[in-house]
Amino acid sequence: MSWQNLFPFTARTNDAQHLEIGGCDVTELAAKFGTPLYVYDETTLRAQATRALVTFRAHWENVTLLYATKAYFAPFLARLYRELGLGLDVTSEGEIVIARRAGFDPNTIYVHGNNKSPDEIRAALAMGVTHFVVDNLDELPLLSSLASRHSPFAICALFIRLSPNIDAHTHRYMTTGVADSKFGLGIRNGMAERAAHEIAKYEKLQLVGLHFHIGSQVFDADALGDALNAVLDVAAEWRAKFNFELRELNIGGGWGVAYNDAQTTLDMETFAENTTRALRDGLRARGLDEKLKLLAEPGRALIARAGVALYRVGSVKEIPGVRTYVALDGGMGDNVRPALYGAQYQAYLANRFAEPAAREYALAGRYCEQGDVLIERAPLPETRVGDLVAIPVAGAYQLPLASNYNLIPRPAVVVVQNGRARLVRRRETLEDMLACDVDV
Ligand code: LLP
Repeated sequence: MSWQNLFPFTARTNDAQHLEIGGCDVTELAAKFGTPLYVYDETTLRAQATRALVTFRAHWENVTLLYATKAYFAPFLARLYRELGLGLDVTSEGEIVIARRAGFDPNTIYVHGNNKSPDEIRAALAMGVTHFVVDNLDELPLLSSLASRHSPFAICALFIRLSPNIDAHTHRYMTTGVADSKFGLGIRNGMAERAAHEIAKYEKLQLVGLHFHIGSQVFDADALGDALNAVLDVAAEWRAKFNFELRELNIGGGWGVAYNDAQTTLDMETFAENTTRALRDGLRARGLDEKLKLLAEPGRALIARAGVALYRVGSVKEIPGVRTYVALDGGMGDNVRPALYGAQYQAYLANRFAEPAAREYALAGRYCEQGDVLIERAPLPETRVGDLVAIPVAGAYQLPLASNYNLIPRPAVVVVQNGRARLVRRRETLEDMLACDVDV
């Protein structure tokens, strides 16, 4: 696999031998907006979302794709995804507010969370959102009483998040479908069935579907197929036991994405085809209604590749006989994924993009942690102070997980298209970071 598969679709080397994205020379973007800088390519954002929608709709009649906003959400993205016809999987009041301001129909917003607070539920209901994915038994009386008080005419449409006891074979922190997970309600231990019975007791609550999400960065097609079948078994069992009718099925997200040459990206077409075939066969085999509404919640698969992180090299330190550290002006404050999951990225010199790699460097961040190394072994051309490093596949879970560690401002974000760069988030200032300190 070459660099083309990691960068946005519009990436190319321009005449100056610089990396260009969306018709913009990234060295000019870095000069204008500063570094670290996150660059999102609008063409790739649109293409990825449209492709996912078209692909799934070609295989299943009634499909809604919910963008998992945790991967990265901002007003510009909310407007774009609404225009493209996606729904949303959200986890907080803040995400709903952004969505509603961008004009999302509340019926296309699905609220997740393993500890939804009364305030958040109240706010969601007030904004007209009634789809909730149930993650525990405690939220049922809460949902019912808040809905009675705040949405007298609305019924909450619930999904039970099932924990099918299946290992997705991904990083431990991204494995969510095993017995020992904080997410979901177990199939085998009877917790999910108990939730179904509890829901039936409340007038304001209605069980409309089932949900599962066994993890993120999943490449194991067998695990996904097993989870699907385990969930269909539940639907068949509940129909026999208490006339449950599976009208909507949410198959979660977690579709694996390549971060470097050694990895592959889950092929959307194959995935959609296999999943819908398994679903059709599974429903038929169990005598279940084949007309159900299919929902999926991809996050990273839609956005990761659209983003590129740019860093300026501030120091090149050769430790004789050990290795050479290239120090970047960002690091774990804007990308905690290498430290948190051991994520393995690949780097390029944006200002000498066509030059072949000469040696390996360790790309160190600027934060005061020995573990703040973005890439342990990055093959690069001879690297000097002032060079501009580009790390692709930076679009998902980097900015949302960013912090102000060491009181360092979080990066600016630009969106590029057709040679134009639009600043969508300015760089934080010291005053921004101090805004919540009341004892000044
Ligand atoms: N649906 C549910 C219920 C989820 O919990 C998640 C991710 C998704 C969908 C979207 O997963 P995706 O398609 O983006 O993989 N912060 C981590 C991964 C944790 C994801 C949490 N939930 C990362 O940086 O890789």
